[in-house]
Amino acid sequence: MEQMIPTVAVRHLGEHVDNTVRVRGWLETKRSSGKIAFLLVRDGSGKVQAVASRKELSEAAWEAVSTVTQESTVSVVGNVHADSRAPGGYELHVSDAVVEQQVEDYPITPKEHGTAFLMEHRHLWLRSSKQRAALAVRSEVSHAIRDFFYRREFTLIDSPILTPAACEGTSTLFETDYFGDPAFLSQSGQLYLEPALAAFGKVYCFGPTFRAEKSKTRRHLMEFWMVEPEIAFLEFDGLCALAEEFVRELVGRVLDNCREHLDVLERDVSKLEAIDGTFPRITYREAIEILKAEGQEIEFGDDFGGEHETILASRFERPVMVTRFPAAMKAFYMQPDPEDPEVALGVDLLAPEGYGEIIGGSQRIHDHDFLLARIEQHELPLSAFQWYLDVRRYGTCPHSGFGMGLERFVAWMCGLKHLRETIPYPRMLYKIYP
Ligand code: 4AD
Ligand code: MG
Repeated sequence: MEQMIPTVAVRHLGEHVDNTVRVRGWLETKRSSGKIAFLLVRDGSGKVQAVASRKELSEAAWEAVSTVTQESTVSVVGNVHADSRAPGGYELHVSDAVVEQQVEDYPITPKEHGTAFLMEHRHLWLRSSKQRAALAVRSEVSHAIRDFFYRREFTLIDSPILTPAACEGTSTLFETDYFGDPAFLSQSGQLYLEPALAAFGKVYCFGPTFRAEKSKTRRHLMEFWMVEPEIAFLEFDGLCALAEEFVRELVGRVLDNCREHLDVLERDVSKLEAIDGTFPRITYREAIEILKAEGQEIEFGDDFGGEHETILASRFERPVMVTRFPAAMKAFYMQPDPEDPEVALGVDLLAPEGYGEIIGGSQRIHDHDFLLARIEQHELPLSAFQWYLDVRRYGTCPHSGFGMGLERFVAWMCGLKHLRETIPYPRMLYKIYP
């Protein structure tokens, strides 16, 4: 008879009302008197309250439910009852229970723990409600990103992680040994996307990228996931429009599919519901004037700090796109503005509520000789860029692309101030355990 009882995911209990099912999972919390015990069981798909009454259980089963400890592995058999007051809407009226592993001294207790302690126990912290909610949002956003490009007929081009040269400047490279030669962990897949344009027209990559940034801020990880589209014959205005459409669609998807997670995170969703319609655009020159008027000491040619981004973004409810940065401060491949050659056709999209830059992109230089001059000006090793120059030698075309950091986007969606909770195992300055 035992084998006849189906094991059901908590998420699907509603399909088994008034039937007897088994739930296997982990004990989150327990309340009990001498006669009745309430077990909150989590199985990865959800949580259900299992109600066990002494008089309805065998002695062994009652012993199991009354002594089971936090995070022990449990197998609970019971009848599914619809109950609108119960978390999830269903309750299990227990007829049998087994503790598959009794856990001693689970380190994370319901009391408050400091962040350093929780980060040391990241492998266990993943089980906590808010952590699960944030990572579920991340998973949904990853899917939404792939759907966005799939529906628009982009081809996925996986860019390499081991690379012979820098993409975004040499100061933040992780170096490794490649059979006696130096190699670097990729900072961006962009340079490898550009050649694929002549093969596929519209491409994107989405994978881990690495930056050895010695800055310890809540917005920087050493390893983060970046999604990067690149499009042939797309010029700057079209690029800005694509970035806007992309962000709007991703926000909509989170609002449609992640309400319960946003609730757990106590996210004020009205702030996300306001992300509709077109996004304001200002030039870098205008941004500098705004910042000066706000009393900031900043000049043309300076990069924005986190505080500058927050000041600029706080003027708008929607993300703001800052365009046309000084060419000298941006990457070597950015196309200058023909009407104002001191600035480049680059765009940064700043999220509202102080979440900072989530997208950086640009139109690329497509003229061979001009790009060659830029590589020389930036004192980059010419031999390492011959293949990249080939893109301009053999059938060049105007083209543009951008990169979005997945963790920055997820932090904004979840209302999390620090990126460390938006990735399962964050890599931070001097911290690589677990
Ligand atoms: O602005 P970035 O450096 O642009 C590029 O790498 C371009 N090659 C992308 C392209 O045009 N294809 O980085 C793009 C985005 C940033 O806007 C930010 O969201 C994220 O990547 N990012 C980081 N996220 C977490 N931690 C870090 N250390 C990050 N550095 C950049
Ligand atoms: Mg940037």
